[in-house]
Amino acid sequence: MRILSGLKPTGRPHVGNYFGALRQWIDLQSQGDGFYFIADLHALDGVRDRETMRSYTQNAALDYLALGLDPEHCTLFVQSDVPEVSELMWIMGHVAPMGLLNRAHAYKDAQAKGKEVDFGLFAYPVLMAADILLYHSDTVPVGKDQKQHVEITRDLAVKFNQTYCPDFDPDTGEGGALRLPNALIMEETAVVPGTDGRKMSKSYGNTIELFATDKQVKKQIMRVVTDSTPVEDPKDPDSDNVYALLKLFCEADELEAVAGRYRSGGTGYGDFKKLLLERFHDRFDAARAKRAELEHNLDYVNEVLAKGAARAREVGREVLDGVQHACGLR
Ligand code: ADP
Ligand code: TRP
Repeated sequence: MRILSGLKPTGRPHVGNYFGALRQWIDLQSQGDGFYFIADLHALDGVRDRETMRSYTQNAALDYLALGLDPEHCTLFVQSDVPEVSELMWIMGHVAPMGLLNRAHAYKDAQAKGKEVDFGLFAYPVLMAADILLYHSDTVPVGKDQKQHVEITRDLAVKFNQTYCPDFDPDTGEGGALRLPNALIMEETAVVPGTDGRKMSKSYGNTIELFATDKQVKKQIMRVVTDSTPVEDPKDPDSDNVYALLKLFCEADELEAVAGRYRSGGTGYGDFKKLLLERFHDRFDAARAKRAELEHNLDYVNEVLAKGAARAREVGREVLDGVQHACGLR
């Protein structure tokens, strides 16, 4: 079973990204033939200068490898290293009705917000369809927000097969040049709060970054906003941001003990923050060390990406050949 997913590189990953997405993404690698890619072509939508693009792409590779994506068990590559995807996108564009693309939310939301929209954003779902279809993907793990794009992908694949493949049977999905994929909607994690209590997000500047220096991490954790209950007074764990973060890091029995200390009073928020800092390091120090090591070993990282791209191209070339043949381009 081919499992495929792409992640847009968007800068330094934080605790919210990890618990909301990265962790599940990485856990899935053991469940099939995983294809994971860094969606730099999709990132063109927001990133508009060379240096940022280069560094986002490289950093994403370092992040995923450090956090446990294992190139022995899956194929990690950069989207644009497989030029076949752009050709498939063009072909799929011709079975993509305007009405359907008009309803796709990436474009619709941007337009509703009065943003300037361009062809790239409009065609975003068509490129995503090409990403998925080029590798005969069976399962596409995505967050709920991407479900619509996978459904569009399936519709386009059906339409292509119906148009060009006389043996295609829409009931079984057999006999087409393109395999019909299914979305696997990743379990929703409760929103991870940032240091100011709002949703943790780069755009709010309230993140705890996974790979910041020890000093920065400490600073980020120490600035988590708490109320002014005095040390000796009882505290309500359920309304506290530090506790909300501890929930992600602590096992159930430790968490219960911590909640007890909140309720009994006598412990200040500073101590709970120290505990959070400790648990952060317990959880991420191995990945942090691995990342530091990889940073000094970029040849290895580049080799992983090159091998990944070669494998992806091999699979993609064959599927594209079938598509070109079906529609008479070959
Ligand atoms: P940001 O808001 O920092 O720009 P992104 O939009 O790049 O984060 O998020 C990438 C992924 O991480 C998404 O799949 C999103 O669901 C997840 N994610 C981001 N922030 C949080 C959060 N605070 N809580 C849970 N999941 C999150
Ligand atoms: N659009 C996805 C996102 O913003 C990233 C992505 C691009 C993707 N191509 C994909 C995800 C193909 C799954 C399959 O998160």
